[in-house]
Amino acid sequence: MAQTMEHIMTYPGMDDAAVRSAMEGAVRIVRANLEKFTYGFKSSSSTDGFYEVIENVDWTNGFWTGAIWLAYEYTKEECFRDAALVHVDSFLERIEKKTAVNHHDMGFLYSLSCVAAYKLTGSEKAKRAALLAADQLAGRFREVGGFLQAWGNVGEPKEYRLIIDCLLNLPLLYWASEVSGDPSYAEKAESHIRTAMKCVVRPDYSTYHTYFINMETGEPDHGVTHQGNRNDSAWARGQAWGIYGIALSYRYLKNPEYMDLFCKVTDYFLAHLPEDLVPYWDFDFDTGSTQPRDSSASAAAICGILEMSQYLDEEKRTVYLAAADRMLRALADHCQNQDLQKSDGILLHGTYAKKTPTNTCLDIGVDECNTWGDYFFMEALTRRMKQWNPYW
Ligand code: GLY
Repeated sequence: MAQTMEHIMTYPGMDDAAVRSAMEGAVRIVRANLEKFTYGFKSSSSTDGFYEVIENVDWTNGFWTGAIWLAYEYTKEECFRDAALVHVDSFLERIEKKTAVNHHDMGFLYSLSCVAAYKLTGSEKAKRAALLAADQLAGRFREVGGFLQAWGNVGEPKEYRLIIDCLLNLPLLYWASEVSGDPSYAEKAESHIRTAMKCVVRPDYSTYHTYFINMETGEPDHGVTHQGNRNDSAWARGQAWGIYGIALSYRYLKNPEYMDLFCKVTDYFLAHLPEDLVPYWDFDFDTGSTQPRDSSASAAAICGILEMSQYLDEEKRTVYLAAADRMLRALADHCQNQDLQKSDGILLHGTYAKKTPTNTCLDIGVDECNTWGDYFFMEALTRRMKQWNPYW
């Protein structure tokens, strides 16, 4: 850890004025995008710097709505609230009609759009939509193994697995238990993280992307990657989902084991950052590599550190906050878009998916903006400016 921090601390920190100026720049881009993307949603990632208009059918649609809510919180301007509420109508229709919801990403979709709307405006429509989404997610719980199945039809043998990304979907279930008084949502979330921590965290505290569970015994079977460089490598965004996902479950469960795991998984991430502190898309690559970066991994990891810093002891809090500050400054320095003529995204240099001989994804959004990078960068700036009540 000491060596890790030495490496990180050579990078300058970010003062309050720079944080505010970065947020102003991000809000300027959200504002400029409203006209095009209120009645249509943004594609998951940009192409040559620009997003396309899509229907509300992808797992990523909540991020843009979440970015609009963050702009609303920062400015209190009605144009942002009104646009985000247009999205809430679309999210309610989507879950009622069950359009493209046969997967686990209900939290990414509904925490940032509808739970946010409910928390910020008291919208009963948004609450209804988010509770329906929680039901949809809870329906993916598999008793044999005690986990939420990520993809495919529930119970399908070739899809009997969990993925690390799902940790970000658990807060929707914790929230649903709080507002409905029904503990079964949170019980499923707690079982899922227990199973996930048993499988995906390796002895060196790097993480597997996905892990198959034996359908007969419920025991962890084997780990494979979908979007990492190789099965045994540390996909940078997967590691970030681990950091933030563990922190968010700690927020609700206060299980000390998760605090310890958070520190170890975070230390792995910090120790593998290159000199300029913007991670490559997989930690197989380090300073000097020509591989693309994934700025979104850093943005999500920073949010996780800022969430967990509220619960850490003074000594650890100081260390992790210093690291997060430098990572945020590095994103602002190297990845924040300043030119709307070149891109309509906020955070440049993300990588959605990069094909390799051993993984199972296709090339998508390589060295482009993506909606979650934009969102998490704004969330990190918001968290850095104030005590923030999360949408998660
Ligand atoms: N949750 C899918 C991804 O991070 O690309």
